[in-house]
This record gives sequence, structure tokens and C-alpha cells, in this order.
Amino acid sequence: MRIAFASCMFTRVCPAQPVWGQIAQQAPDHLVLLGDATYLDVAGPPLPQAMSDDEFAQHLFALYAELLAQPDFAALIAALPAGSVHTIWDDHDFLWNDARGAEERALHGEKIRLSTAFHEQFRATLAAGLAPGSFPAAYDDARFWDPLQPPLTTPSRQLDADLWLHLSDGRSHRTRTWLLAENKRTMFGKAQRDAFAQAIGAQPQAVHLWASGTTLAGYQHYARDQAWLHGLAANQRLLVLSGDIHRNRLDAFYTGGWPLHEATSSGAAVRDAVAVGALRQNYGLLDVDAQQVAIRLFRNGALEQQRVLSRPNWLPI
Ligand SMILES: [Fe+2]
Repeated sequence: MRIAFASCMFTRVCPAQPVWGQIAQQAPDHLVLLGDATYLDVAGPPLPQAMSDDEFAQHLFALYAELLAQPDFAALIAALPAGSVHTIWDDHDFLWNDARGAEERALHGEKIRLSTAFHEQFRATLAAGLAPGSFPAAYDDARFWDPLQPPLTTPSRQLDADLWLHLSDGRSHRTRTWLLAENKRTMFGKAQRDAFAQAIGAQPQAVHLWASGTTLAGYQHYARDQAWLHGLAANQRLLVLSGDIHRNRLDAFYTGGWPLHEATSSGAAVRDAVAVGALRQNYGLLDVDAQQVAIRLFRNGALEQQRVLSRPNWLPI
């Protein structure tokens, strides 16, 4: 079982995106996109904060349509079997840099409903392997404008025997940290934490892949969510796949039980600071068999870092 993962791509900065061809050559069974599939706040002015809801929907439609039409991206998605592409979002495809749903909902609730609906349609289009008509043809399609649009779904998907992928939503429910008591801060909200705890706890022998836009370093500001994830990882084989930082990185964290591992691959098709700096072509691969999980992180087509985890004791080999 081979799983590719990547994050952070922007057609306006990188019209050419060779990273998808590099991933296709590795013939993965699954692809996980870990957020910032587009950058709603980098294409302007105007910034999305200043757009009307109608303008924001047109903006979302244009940027998602550009990505879905990017030839290397489209070729990779089309080559993968239906149901094998998975995506979460981060701040830039949710609203804007560092956007937190719990703070923005009062003023920008309709924009959140729109970006949620667009991400759900993007997700469905990827799951359908870009089947003709799978992405709505116009920004004013009713599927984008449901006044009762629920928050982004957060499924747990079984990829193989004893291998699960959990698609978190770290944006819809996130609070600020500044001038907010630690026990009121959250990234995920209690309902999401409880549902994932149940899904993970129900499979005690499995390897659990926790898809997170934010790297674990970012969890430090949210003590309850961090303690919750560490508590799960103490008793389960948990590997975080994360994005956000436009770098590749491997890490591991002490939990009091089994270690919590993290593999970050970010910067599939952006520059170092989105629009300026060095061009990034980063992606990661997991090769999972009955004995081990091999992690490899690639940069510009070359292997940059690797680590192999033993499934029996969940330690590096
Ligand atoms: Fe990013």
C-alpha cells in the first residue's frame, strides 16, 4: 500500500506543477492533500475579507476550476482509482491566512458556508476521478449556496486492513489563542475530538494516519487538543501527516506511551513564501506493509529525508 501526500499549491504562482507527474511516476494507491489547495487571499486585491459573498463565490469557483484544469494535477487524479484521493483544508482554502472559524463566523458566516460547499464539491470531484460534470459548471450552482450547509465533513476512511485515514478539520471550529483562557481554546471542538477518539479507539491494532493542515508545533497553542491527541497516541499507532510550512520534515513526540510520529510535506507547487522565494516541489510517500511504515520525503524529484517505523513496537528501525 503506497500513499502519497502533499499540500500547498497555487496555480497563479505555479501554472506549471511538475510535482504531480513525479507523484504519478511513483504509482501511489492513494493521494492525501493536506490543505492550501489554493490561496484565496493571495490572488487579490481585493482581499476576500472585502469581497461580497457573490464575489467570493466567483473567486472560489475560478481558483478551484484552475486547479482542476491544471494538466499535471488532472492527469494524476484521473490516473488514480475513484475514491483514492482525499483532501482536507487549511487556512488559505478556508478563508485567509490564520483564519479561525469560531472567530470569523459572526461576520463572515456566509463566506464560511461557501468555502465549505466548494471544498465538499472539490472533494467529491476528486473522489469521482474528475468524472465529467462532477464539479458544478457555474459559481451560482445551488450546490454551492445551501443556506443550511453543514460544516466540513470529517470522515475516517479504511485504506487497508488495519490502516485508517482520519480527515480532520482544523479551521471551522478553531478559536483564537490571544486573550482567551487555555480551557476555552480549541482547534477541533469537542464534537470532532469525541468522534475521532471513538473511531480511533475502535481499531486498537491499526495504524492511524491523522491528516492535519497544521503541524504539531502549532498544537502547542491549543493545550487541550494537543493533550487529547497525545492521549490517543499513547495507546495507538498514530502518524500525523501535516502541511502548512512549505518544508519537508520528520518528527516524533513523547506521549508517556507510544511515540507520536509526524511526517510533514508542504510546498507541492508554491514558492517558499507562497508568491516569493524558491519554488517548491515537495511531496511525501508512505509504503505500508504488515511489518513497517516507510516514510520518504521528496524535494525537486529527489529523496530528501526518510524514516522507517516498526509496526510491532512503533519505533524507528
Ligand atoms: Fe500553504
